[in-house]
Amino acid sequence: MRSKEDIEKEIRTIGRDILASDMFIRGFSQSHHFRSNVSDHELHVTKAALRLAGLFASADREALIRACLCHDMGLIGNRKVVYTTGRMCITQHPLDSATRAEDILGTISEKERDIIEHHMFPLVLKRPDSLEAVLICIADKYCALYEPFTVRSSSVKLHSRMRIPVHAMA
Ligand SMILES: [Fe+2]
Ligand SMILES: [Fe+2]
Repeated sequence: MRSKEDIEKEIRTIGRDILASDMFIRGFSQSHHFRSNVSDHELHVTKAALRLAGLFASADREALIRACLCHDMGLIGNRKVVYTTGRMCITQHPLDSATRAEDILGTISEKERDIIEHHMFPLVLKRPDSLEAVLICIADKYCALYEPFTVRSSSVKLHSRMRIPVHAMA
């Protein structure tokens, strides 16, 4: 099993362009799940999904990292501003997140699109097509359940090692 340090190194290496992007850094300023924020949540989900991926030799870890780091970017600046209803937010933010991932990365694969656009299943009825998209569905729900009950200071502590290189690269 990979160590926490190895997983963080993997995220920093593969997610380098995303972590350094203006949109990702902006995500630390938008609250999410009461005590977290969009970008901390995306890091939580990436780590949880990678731990699950460790159970499957065939899992595409690169696609999973790139997609998990971008999966909620559509919320940034749009929630309660552009998305005026809860239903609109649920259905539209995965699509806008995929667009923002493309803006950062230039292009995304069909699998990465599947992971991002279907991460809200079963709240949106289009089901995931890939193993990696199933993994994000599980990881995202798990993180959404525990983040409201964690204190902010522990969240900051949890990701302090991730944040330092993020801002150093910006
Ligand atoms: Fe989401
Ligand atoms: Fe999420």
